[in-house]
Parts: sequence; structure tokens; C-alpha cells
Amino acid sequence: MDLSVEICGIKLKNPIMPAAGPTVRNGDSMVKAAMGGAGALVSKTLSVAPAHVPRPCLVKIRDGLMHAELWSDITLDQWVRHELPKAKKTGLPLLVSVGYSPDEIKKIAPRVVDAGANALELSTLYSGDISTITEAIRAAKEAVKVPVFVKVPPGATDVVQFAQAVEAAGADGIVAINAVGPCLVIDVENGMPILGSPNGYGWLSGQAIKPFAVRCVAEIARTVKIPVIGSGGISTGRDIVEFIMAGASAVQISTAAIIRGHKVYGLLADEMAKFMRAKGYNSINDFKGSALRHMSEQPVRTTPKPVEVISSRCNACGLCERYCMYDAIRIVGRVARVDPVKCYGCGLCVSACPTRALRF
Ligand SMILES: Cc1cc2nc3c(=O)[nH]c(=O)nc-3n(C[C@H](O)[C@H](O)[C@H](O)COP(=O)(O)O)c2cc1C
Repeated sequence: MDLSVEICGIKLKNPIMPAAGPTVRNGDSMVKAAMGGAGALVSKTLSVAPAHVPRPCLVKIRDGLMHAELWSDITLDQWVRHELPKAKKTGLPLLVSVGYSPDEIKKIAPRVVDAGANALELSTLYSGDISTITEAIRAAKEAVKVPVFVKVPPGATDVVQFAQAVEAAGADGIVAINAVGPCLVIDVENGMPILGSPNGYGWLSGQAIKPFAVRCVAEIARTVKIPVIGSGGISTGRDIVEFIMAGASAVQISTAAIIRGHKVYGLLADEMAKFMRAKGYNSINDFKGSALRHMSEQPVRTTPKPVEVISSRCNACGLCERYCMYDAIRIVGRVARVDPVKCYGCGLCVSACPTRALRF
């Protein structure tokens, strides 16, 4: 099974990288990410001055995390002298995330490339508007020869416009998306915001943001020619396949690696290989972007598709009966039965069935 990909001339043994965040906060943690099976390494965003990170800066919520971590609290000197050389020794391609203003990028870019960066990833969370971002891209392209990826900022309302602007400015690839927000979590025990940031605001990541991320990736992939690296809520091998079907060339993972540890990259690569084997795919290119064609073809349907029960898979758990707001499903004997007259065709049961015993 061939999981390898090539992005802007950089070869990866598999398309899975860590995303900028605490799991790649220094050289040692990047080495651990490599040992966990990542196909390439990405650093925590570094800038000219270390960040003063508010505490608490991370809170677990139901389907993800909320964070207020800013950028790296390690100096640029420390990164280029000690942390990046350690990461470089793993032999994996190294993308270094840098921020933020054009002047800062001009100073940082040559130093991180001298320290071994195979590509830059411009983090844009604190960069300002799109014209400052495109200026930062031009500054990076003038300063270094390596590919320059640009990450979609959390506040980008029109990702198509963003993607067109950064492609026109010379970016070699796009990372989509960042965490989403700002968001707020309040401790109801005392009425206080949980995060120590201004107003307690933070950024949402993890499974909760995945459908939003997949839509953004698909829109960007349909718009520009440069490669897209997908990020946002990936926690299974199937999630990675979904991003690739939406047009991503590779993916990045932060929240799942925070929660499950560095082994997650290798585990998800195995899950992905297993899925590909079952479907008869030999390489990533066999299904890359395959959803994009269906998206433009798919007509809007306003009549219900009949729901079919695959009796051999049904274990009569009753979840479909409980979820059906139209009283169209009953467990009869040891199997679900759908009343086609009552069925609205909403699709909830098909998506929720734990044994995939229902289909249209
Ligand atoms: C604690 C934390 C810190 C992060 N720090 C950065 C950062 O320094 N630079 C950046 O571009 N993105 C940062 N991110 C965003 C992630 O790189 C990633 O794009 C986002 O969390 C979505 O992926 P996920 O759902 O797999 O976490 C951070 C995310 C988390 C959870």
C-alpha cells in the first residue's frame, strides 16, 4: 500500500503531519512526533519575540479543545540553534511555522531555512488583513527559495477570496483551516471564563470543527491550483480519507495528538491503509479530490430516498428507533423495520447506525 505523497517537490512517506501546536513545541517533541509515525514535521509557530502565554490556555470540551496559546514561548535563537537542528536529525521533511508581519517574516525566514526548514508555513492568526498577509508572502518568497505555505486565519469569512489572493501573491500551498473562533467557555460553578486570555476568549479545535474544515478544503481545492493541506478535527483514518477526497494533498493533526499522544500519526496511517485496501485503492491519487466532481453534479433532491435495512448487519440496538422523529422505524423481532410511508428520508438513522445496517 503506497501512502506516499509529494507536495511542492517535498516527498512524504505518508500524508500525515502534526499541526502547529503544543505537540511540536520544541525539538524533543518533534522527535517524538517522528517516532509516532508522522510523514513530515511542522513546528509550533515561532516569531521574533517569545509569546507571553496566558494561563490557563487550554480547556477540554465535549468534542474538542479550546485554546489561547498564541505562538511559541521559546526565542528564535533557541529555535534555530537547538530545536530545529534536533527535529532535522529525524530525516523527515521539516515545515517551520512562522509569524507574523512582513518585516518579521523577512527576519525569520532566512534563519529557519539555514537551520534546515524544507518549507515555511505562514501562520496568519495575528497577521492583520489580507493585504498584510499577501505582503508577508511576498516577503517570504523574496527572502528564501523553499516553498511557502499559508494557513487560513480563523476569521476568514470567504476562504475562496483568501485562497485566490494568496495564490496570486505567490504562495506555494495553503493550510486549511486553523482553529475556529473566538469562542468562550464559562465555568458554571463560579461564573468565570475558564481561559486566562482577555475576556476568556479562545480558539476551538477538534472533532467539532471537522465538517467546517472539510467544506473549506473542498472550496479552496476547487478554486486554486496550488496544493491544500487539510487540518481540523481529524481523529481517524477515515477522516483523513475524507479530507483527501475533498481535495487535500496531505493533512495536519493537533487536537487528536494532544489527547491520544504522538502515536496517533502512525495509528491513523495504519487505519487509512486498511481502508484503502478494503476499497481497492493503491495510492492516494486513486481517490484524491474524488468528492469534488460529485459536489458539482449532485442535484438538490426534495423527495425521500427509501431507507433499506441490511438485516444481517442489524443488531436491534434500537438507536434508529429512538432517533426517528417520524415514528417510521420499529425493532420487530431482532431487526429494524422502516415504514416507507412515514419515512421522511432525513438520513439521521443512516448516519447514526453503529453497525452500518441502514443505507439509502
Ligand atoms: C493548543 C493549540 C495550539 C495551537 N497553536 C498554533 C500555532 O502556534 N500556530 C498555528 O498556526 N496554529 C496553531 N494551532 C492550530 C492547529 O495547528 C490546527 O490548525 C487546529 O487546531 C485544527 O486542527 P485539530 O482540530 O487537529 O487540532 C493550535 C491548536 C491548538 C489546539
